[in-house]
Amino acid sequence: MTEPVLVAEGLNKNFGAVTAARDINIAIPKGAVWSLIGTNGAGKTTFVNMVTGYTKPDQGKILFDGKDITNYSPRKVTRAGIRRSFQIPQLCAELNVLENMLLSLSINADHPPSFWRSAKGQQENERALIVLEQFGISDYRDRLIGELPAGVRKLLDIAMAMAGSPKVMLLDEPTSGVAAEEKFPIMDLVIDALRAADVTIVFVEHDMDIVTRYSERVLAFYNGGIIANDTPEELLADPDVQRYITGGPK
Ligand SMILES: Nc1ncnc2c1ncn2[C@@H]1O[C@H](COP(=O)(O)OP(=O)(O)O)[C@@H](O)[C@H]1O
Ligand SMILES: [Mg+2]
Repeated sequence: MTEPVLVAEGLNKNFGAVTAARDINIAIPKGAVWSLIGTNGAGKTTFVNMVTGYTKPDQGKILFDGKDITNYSPRKVTRAGIRRSFQIPQLCAELNVLENMLLSLSINADHPPSFWRSAKGQQENERALIVLEQFGISDYRDRLIGELPAGVRKLLDIAMAMAGSPKVMLLDEPTSGVAAEEKFPIMDLVIDALRAADVTIVFVEHDMDIVTRYSERVLAFYNGGIIANDTPEELLADPDVQRYITGGPK
């Protein structure tokens, strides 16, 4: 098997009486495309939050390229090479699309905003435009966030994460809130761009057609725990998955 890039060992997390993570053990190989499924409240976002430093596990370890990153801050995780997108895109409404990209690049490189006007800033400008192009949204570069269709907002959030040249990308519901006919085109763009850059991908998704089409392996979350870890085909045939998540055979 390919060497794992991301490993979770015995992760547990409680919020009061709620167990949001229950003995999570996984090893994700380099270059893999995996998905996370489960009903609302199953613990998918908590897992993403723990990996990216937004939530500290009560117990357990997270290893990235063999290094223990369990206690890293979100910023340190980002710098190490793990990026994420959010269920609700985290964008600055007062800025346009290109400025959002540049802001994200500046924050990660610790530049003051005036840096954009310098010669080196110009290089970042070019990089930002290339990434916007790659995600098919460069035509929106001068538009304010509020004017963007939901799908473009989602793509921008992912493009911003991608501009940081990550090794691992965690996408939290990349197609939620997007019109049904836009879901496949969005996933095509995102998966192609990430694969071309050799990024390991983990995405949270409710739509089983998308899960089946794009992921090599699926982790099924239920009540904070993983109840199945399998290929999409095997997973859909799993009685526990049918009972607790998909509501029956397809
Ligand atoms: N910051 C928090 N404070 C309290 N409870 C939380 C917090 N984050 C998540 N939870 C709870 O943990 C459980 C798992 O949530 P979450 O990981 O967001 O689920 P999912 O993403 O699968 O819908 C839910 O019961 C949720 O209400
Ligand atoms: Mg969630």
